[in-house]
Amino acid sequence: MPEKEYYLHPSSIIDDNVTIGVGTKIWHFCHILSGAKIGKNCILGQNVMVGRGVKIGDGCKIQNNVSVFEGVELEDDVFCGPSLVFTNIKYPRAFINRKSEFKKTLVKKGATLGANATIICGVTIGGYSFIGAGAVLMRDVPDFAFFAGVPSVQKGWVCICGKIFKNTGEKRISCTECNRQYLINNQNFELIKKKHHRDKSINTEVGIIEDK
Ligand SMILES: CC(C)(COP(=O)(O)OP(=O)(O)OC[C@H]1O[C@@H](n2cnc3c(N)ncnc32)[C@H](O)[C@@H]1OP(=O)(O)O)[C@@H](O)C(=O)NCCC(=O)NCCS
Ligand SMILES: [Zn+2]
Repeated sequence: MPEKEYYLHPSSIIDDNVTIGVGTKIWHFCHILSGAKIGKNCILGQNVMVGRGVKIGDGCKIQNNVSVFEGVELEDDVFCGPSLVFTNIKYPRAFINRKSEFKKTLVKKGATLGANATIICGVTIGGYSFIGAGAVLMRDVPDFAFFAGVPSVQKGWVCICGKIFKNTGEKRISCTECNRQYLINNQNFELIKKKHHRDKSINTEVGIIEDK
């Protein structure tokens, strides 16, 4: 790949067979291990490690001091806050080799994982969901759900624009920030009205959830 297509700070190291998409920026002291695939237009802050064979989609933002270990997959547009901790072994012991027991963690399109949160491996984190800063997450998260706390529980829902809606029991929600509307049906949070067509603040709504 021509060097110009992405930016790599000279202090960072890229191993063999790594793919990095056009427009991606990799800042100071990062290490990308062999076989990793990083999409287009991502930003990797200082001291980010991407494990062997890890897949990271387009448009992801990974803040300082995050290790994306083998077993973790990030779809497009995922935000990882600073010092977020992923894990890949559920029952680690220093004296037992459990490399063959790495558990998968899937983070779906558009999700935000807050600063200093810890993600216990083996979970699927839904599209556009939001995990609050400092959470310890141990279970699957539905699309658009807002989870926070230690241990982390669902405290509400979240709009594509990032506005949090607390659990109020209401079935229909209008976002005061962007005018999108949603219907809550059991554990489903369904987009029923898109943002104002002149609002250009969010332009990446493709994939699992499309505006109607
Ligand atoms: C979630 C967040 C956006 C707050 O949103 P908000 O709309 O202001 O929501 P509120 O503060 O009204 O919180 C709603 C509820 O969730 C709880 N809550 C919010 N964030 C929480 C957190 N990080 N941990 C635990 N509980 C949290 C609140 O206590 C409140 O609970 P209650 O309904 O029992 O009173 C914010 O707390 C957060 O975690 N932001 C992420 C910041 C970050 O990591 N940035 C990284 C880039 S620097
Ligand atoms: Zn909104």
